[in-house]
Amino acid sequence: MLPSSLTALIAGALAAVASAKVVKYNWDVTWVNAAPDGFSRPVIGVNNQWPCPEIRATEGDTIRVKMNNKLGNQTASIHFHGINQISTNWMDGPSFATQCPVPPGESITYEFVADTAGTYWWHSHNMGQYPDGFRGPLIVEDRRDPNRGSYDEERILTISDWHHEQSLKLGKAFLNPGNPLGIPPRADSILLNDGRGADYDFKAGKKYRFRIINMSASASAMIDFDSLDMEVIMNDAAHVKKQKVDQLRITPAQRYDVVVKAKGNRREKRNFGFLVSLDTNRDHTQPGARWQLNQTGYLVMDPSKEKKPVVVDAWNPVDDSKFKPRNNAKILPAPDKTLVFTFEHCADEHGILRHCVNGSPFVNPKVPTLYTAATTGEHNTNETVYGPVHPFIVSSGDIVDIVVNNHDVGVHPFHLHGHHFQVLTRPFTGAGDWSGSSDELNKRPPRRDTVSVYGNSHAVLRFEADNPGVYLFHCHIEWHVEMGLSATIIEAPDVLRDIAIPNDHINACKKAGIPFEGNAAGNVDEPLDTTGIEYDPPLEYTGAEWIPTLIPRFRRSRVARLA
Ligand code: C2O
Repeated sequence: MLPSSLTALIAGALAAVASAKVVKYNWDVTWVNAAPDGFSRPVIGVNNQWPCPEIRATEGDTIRVKMNNKLGNQTASIHFHGINQISTNWMDGPSFATQCPVPPGESITYEFVADTAGTYWWHSHNMGQYPDGFRGPLIVEDRRDPNRGSYDEERILTISDWHHEQSLKLGKAFLNPGNPLGIPPRADSILLNDGRGADYDFKAGKKYRFRIINMSASASAMIDFDSLDMEVIMNDAAHVKKQKVDQLRITPAQRYDVVVKAKGNRREKRNFGFLVSLDTNRDHTQPGARWQLNQTGYLVMDPSKEKKPVVVDAWNPVDDSKFKPRNNAKILPAPDKTLVFTFEHCADEHGILRHCVNGSPFVNPKVPTLYTAATTGEHNTNETVYGPVHPFIVSSGDIVDIVVNNHDVGVHPFHLHGHHFQVLTRPFTGAGDWSGSSDELNKRPPRRDTVSVYGNSHAVLRFEADNPGVYLFHCHIEWHVEMGLSATIIEAPDVLRDIAIPNDHINACKKAGIPFEGNAAGNVDEPLDTTGIEYDPPLEYTGAEWIPTLIPRFRRSRVARLA
């Protein structure tokens, strides 16, 4: 006889499996016009709509997204940020890492298990494209929420910087010999929930869980809920020991789940504002930092009452490297392998500013890296076959440290695909390179998938190699990805040999004329022959801007009839 608690557990698990479902989306990726801040521009939408839809599933469900690229003039891909793609690495989404960019007219399907509940988002992972609006929330609900009881209702808050020009044009002007200082594209405005401002109906005394997602191209966001506390329960879909904070700094791609309780009672209703401010400076600690992109949203208990503006005198966000994991998990054991990722600005021979990682910028290979790992046999444990992607090879079960030494003056948000890492240390601006002293390391470190690394400072991140695959590690400032601020973890290459890649994914390569076998240059017979491997970044993006006048007529007439 099994003890009854165990029987209950098994019954629960079986019930969960039995009720797991397939959540299906069929998405035509299309250009549409939108004016989220009052300025109309072409944006990348889904099924002729923008903002793009959210994906919502329950833990254990399978998510299936069929992506039909109907852009006409640009390739596309989708990454599901924060989903670790356990055993489905080929569904991860980044172009030239785990798939080919999908050409116009072609479709591919992404299918994976939503294994862990939390707040995620999805976005294009192709040619600096997501700032054109091709992104949205991805929510995985709990089957048994450990925070059930801590809140009554749930709301989403997305934050984004926003540009009036298309990404391609911004990228071309940015990575240009005419821009030797590498002045990045400046955001024109700030969006909350892909619009102007965000108001929420609030009932006095009730508690709301906000799932906050920063979908920005480059700006971090500061947030302050007026006189109310935010109780942080999760960061990047990982539970933290509940902690009340006044202010958060949220980098591009980070998520926070916070519980906010509106004070007041039924009789004495009032409206509470919250201020979101974009940190568009190189470092929010710089004196004289200007905060010109602000938006206030409101928790509205009584629409007839005043909505007071929120004034914040100083930004002192909580140090998120000091959050404690909810389960009190200890630091992983000492590392078997350490990737030292040291970076700084560097100029290429054309005078275009790049980011050099250990001396050179990351460059896309000709063959997606996963496909190289799958087709180079015994050679796939040799870095040479991967070419210019800063390959770092680790074995199954290794404990891996990533030491980021930031030689730049700015703060950069780093993201790892395929894993949540422990943040062992992340000191403030000016701390210099890591000394290697383990005294500095947090013994109960928080876990997340994106962390900011301060200017002229460092961070040490640790994870266990328990998910074979090819994983990018990169700065999540989209313009810096295009400058080469990335590396690639090749995890358990022996397991990746001859894995089967779905036919539609291979077909996309064929249609795009991109090789899908052999080393980084597509050399199949001699994988160690580096002839044709391109270590210099491309001079320009391919693809074209969308010319708004070409937007199909029927849409306009439909809009006109509605008006
Ligand atoms: Cu949010 Cu490499 O991605």
